Formats: sequence, structure tokens, C-alpha cells
Amino acid sequence: MAGNEGQGEGSVRLASAAGRWVLAVAVLGDSMILLEATVVNVALPTIGRNLGAGVAGLQWTLNSYVLTLAALVLVGGSLSDIYGRRRIFILGAVVFVAASALCAAAPTIGLLILARFIQGIGGALLTPGSLAIIEAVFHPADRTRAIGAWAGLGAVAGAIGPTVGGYLTDAVSWRAVFLINIPLGVFVVAAALRHVPETRDPTHVGGIDLRGAALATLAIAGVCFALIDASGGLTPMVIAASVVGVGAAALPGGRHPARHVPEFPAQFQPADPGALIGVTAIRDGNIRLRGTGQEPEGTRNMKVAVMGGTGLIGSQVVKILNASGHEAVPHARSTGVDLLSGRGLPGALKGADVVVDVTNSPTFDDASLAFFQTTTDNLVAAAGEAGVGHAVLLSIVGADLVPGLVYYRGKVLQEDVLKSGSTPYSIVRATQFFEFIEPALAFSADESTVRVSATLIQPIAAADVAQAVADMSAGRPLRGTRDVAGPEVFSLDELGRITLAARDDHRTVITDNSAGIFAAVSGDALIAKDGAVIATTTYREWLAR
Ligand SMILES: NC(=O)c1ccc[n+]([C@@H]2O[C@H](COP(=O)([O-])OP(=O)(O)OC[C@H]3O[C@@H](n4cnc5c(N)ncnc54)[C@H](OP(=O)(O)O)[C@@H]3O)[C@@H](O)[C@H]2O)c1
Repeated sequence: MAGNEGQGEGSVRLASAAGRWVLAVAVLGDSMILLEATVVNVALPTIGRNLGAGVAGLQWTLNSYVLTLAALVLVGGSLSDIYGRRRIFILGAVVFVAASALCAAAPTIGLLILARFIQGIGGALLTPGSLAIIEAVFHPADRTRAIGAWAGLGAVAGAIGPTVGGYLTDAVSWRAVFLINIPLGVFVVAAALRHVPETRDPTHVGGIDLRGAALATLAIAGVCFALIDASGGLTPMVIAASVVGVGAAALPGGRHPARHVPEFPAQFQPADPGALIGVTAIRDGNIRLRGTGQEPEGTRNMKVAVMGGTGLIGSQVVKILNASGHEAVPHARSTGVDLLSGRGLPGALKGADVVVDVTNSPTFDDASLAFFQTTTDNLVAAAGEAGVGHAVLLSIVGADLVPGLVYYRGKVLQEDVLKSGSTPYSIVRATQFFEFIEPALAFSADESTVRVSATLIQPIAAADVAQAVADMSAGRPLRGTRDVAGPEVFSLDELGRITLAARDDHRTVITDNSAGIFAAVSGDALIAKDGAVIATTTYREWLAR
């Protein structure tokens, strides 16, 4: 199956030979990484005697691996999604095997710790891909069972680590604890090349979100390092690491850098608090515990309450979700639910797994500020009370960069209210809808002219926005923001001319940077930021429909 990118995606059956190979490769690769977190424990006294290492050196022999793995696993997940799960999985296996050889040959404790750091890098590259491969390759009907098998077998690897480590250390040498990775890793790489199809995250556009990746890595590494090193007292190093970790976590990091990350077995409870926090950070931010029987979002049908579900975006979100097997229910004043007064809200959210807010203020003036504040206050309170697991909001790209538009200030307020609530959330920020261009031109038009600014915009079809909102609703909470935008950037006056020509409208478009609703926008405030999902429908295609 080498070089078969995209083949077999979402179609491989678990009972087939191809399915068994994919599962075996994913489980073996992941098991190697999990085994390595526990297998070394019982070998430590022997390593200490053999290499003349003290307690600190032995502690770092354990922690260096878990720290690097925890700090980089989000980045590894992102790289897999972007550059190919199989490619990054194999790269991780190669790095891991090479580092294992270095561990086995290490003549000093310093070199052993260094090799363990490198092993952690390999693990962080390999392990997110192992779950992502299963999610992407298996037929939806088999996915849950495949993930269950992967999780169960991986948990066994973590659990038997100490026994295997003890046996190898007694019967052979502590170096054998690392040497076993070499034949295992070579087999995993060869089998992955032959039997695993390449897949990527189709919604990901552009490169890695460097800022998000750096902040996530610094946050986890800083906090873990501080906790690990705190056993030696509150040293300047511990304080500096804490400041870096907490500071990086507090900074706005943009979207989450990873989508597919692995689950750690519930049994894996590292004794060191720093390592525990690292693993917990990964677990809580992205995953569910293994062995609990819970399925990742996207593989089960969910009950979704769509507020504003009768509007332009909402009605399409409802359709898309229902067509993919979820139970999406539209709510609006016309169906008896009013977010302003709170009427009907508890009933609408009862039993809902997800709530989507695509309501809209009836006006663009000062009243919109109060509309967004009050409706979101009510929604957040009701979602918290109903125990809704995920709240998705549709906002506007660059809303925070246009304080001159009160409606945009209202959207920022809406985002802030959602973020301050207790319900895990995702914010989709869309650029201006194609459907909104003609109303926008009409704001400053008369019978013979349309006066508009040359503001840069990157419009998108409402259908593409609805798809992005539906995708987000069916996934795990992002606890962050994702931009979605159309494929082309125009200046608004140019867009006006294209629109009028397509509509056979002979009015003249006059460029006037003080005219129209977007006159308050400066520079590229409304253009999607790095890492945005870029939709494919072009404006001209849409106009021609
Ligand atoms: N237009 C753009 O270019 C653009 C760009 C990015 C983001 N957005 C955002 O996209 C979102 C959706 O826009 P849209 O064009 O789909 O809106 P829309 O077509 O005007 O639909 C609004 C929906 O909200 C409901 N609604 C209004 N007031 C309500 C209330 N008090 N309680 C409950 N439901 C209420 C409406 O139904 P009832 O009237 O029956 O209640 C309707 O279902 C907006 O939040 C907007 O800010 C728009």
C-alpha cells in the first residue's frame, strides 16, 4: 500500500486483512511508546549502580521521556494532521528506535538522559498518528470497535511495562529494556510502509500554527519542569519555569495546535507530579480516558440544539447534522425559544450534548450590543444548568480589530461571555458571507451609484460556513477559535463591480473610503488569520448559480 495516499480512507473494514494490519501497526507503535513510560522503572536501581548515577540522575531518566512526550504531543498531532499521519508516525518510530539504540549504548547517565529526551520526541511524533490513523482509515461502522481494541491493547502495554522491565533487567541487562525497541520499531516501520494508507486532516489549510504550538509546548513543559524540579526547593529555575509555563498558558494562543492526540491508559499514573500534570494536560485538553467505553465525538450520534436554527446559517447546519446521523433541532422565536427573555431555553437544552448559537441581532446599531450580551448570558447560564457538553458560537473574523463597528463589538462581547462560562466551547469566526455582499453594497447606494470603500475582504459562501459550524459541532470542543474564509481576497469596491456586472446592474461603483458599513475597517482586519480553514466555493461560481 506504499504511496497510496487517500486510498482506503474511511473504508477499511476491521475484519479484513487490511484492517487487521492497520490495527496491528497502530497498536504496536503506540504500545512501544506507552511501554517505554513504565518499563524503565524497575531497571533504575541497576542503571544507578552501573552508571554511578544519583537520585536526581535516575529521576531525570524517567522524567525526561515523559516531559518531552507530554510537551510535544500536541505538536506531533498537528504535524500528523498536516503532513500525513503515516509519514509522521514513521518518522516518530525512526527517531524513537535510534534514540533507543543510543539509550542502550549510553556510557554515562548524562547521555542516557539526553537519549531519553530524544525518545520522547520520537514518541510525541508517533503516538498521535496511531489514533488518527485508526479514525481516518476505518469504516465508520468499525471505528468504535477499532478504537476500543487500540485503547485496550495499548493499556495492556503500559500495565505490563514493569514486569517486562524487571524480567529483561534480571535475565539480560538493563540495556535490553531499550534494545527490544529496535526489532519492534523496525517491524512497525516496515509494516506501516506496506500496509497503512496515508491520510491527512482535509480541513487543515496552511502550515502549523507556530504560535499555538510554541505556547502549548512551553505551557506544558514549563509547568511540568517546575513541578518535577520543585522537589529540590523553590529555586530560581523552578520559579522561571513556572512563570514561563503559566505565562504561555495564559497568553491567547489562537487555535488549538492539535486535533488528534492519543489517549493515555487510565492505569498509567506516573508517580512524579510533574509527569502526572503533563499527562493530565494532554488527557483533559484533548481526550477521553481509555477503557471507559466512551467514544470520541464524531463517532456517535449527538443531540444538538441549534439556536437560530431557522436562519440562513442555522437551517443549513441543522440539515447537515441530521444528514450525518445526528439529532439536530432548530430553535428560534418562531419555534417558541427566545434567547433574549430566556423563554423556552431550559426545555430546548434538555438532554442536548451540544448547543450551537447562530442567532442574529435584528439590528446593527447600539441595540445589537445588548442583544449579544443578554442572549449569550442567558444561553451560557442555561447550558451550564443543563450540563451541555459543548457550546459552538458563530462569530466574525477580525471582529476584535474593528472597534468602530458596534455590531462587531457585540460579537466580541458574545465571545467573551461564552469563554467565561463553564461549558466547553468552540468559536467559529467566519468572514463576510457572499449572501451579505449585496445588502452591504445597498447601505450606501442610490439609483445611479454605489459608493463603497476599498476595504479588503475575503468573503465565503454561507453553505461553506454552515459546513464548518456543523463540523465543529460534531467534534470535540476546541476551547478556542477557528477562522473560516473564502478562497479569494477582494477589495470591496472591486467586489461591487463584479457583483453589479453579474447582476446586469448598470450603476457605477465609486470608490469612497468613507462610505459604506466597512469604512471603519482598516488594513487586513477582515482577512482570515494564519491557520484558517479556507473554503473552496469562489464568489464568481456562487454568483453564477
Ligand atoms: N452576515 C455575515 O457576513 C456574517 C459573517 C460572519 C458571521 N456572521 C454571524 O452569523 C450568525 C448567523 O447569521 P445568519 O445570517 O444566519 O442570521 P439570520 O439568517 O438573520 O438568522 C438569525 C436566526 O436567529 C433567530 N433569532 C433572532 N433573534 C432571536 C432570539 N431573540 N431568540 C432566539 N432566536 C432568535 C432567528 O429566528 P427568529 O427571528 O424566528 O427568532 C433566526 O433563526 C450571526 O450571529 C452573525 O453575526 C455573519
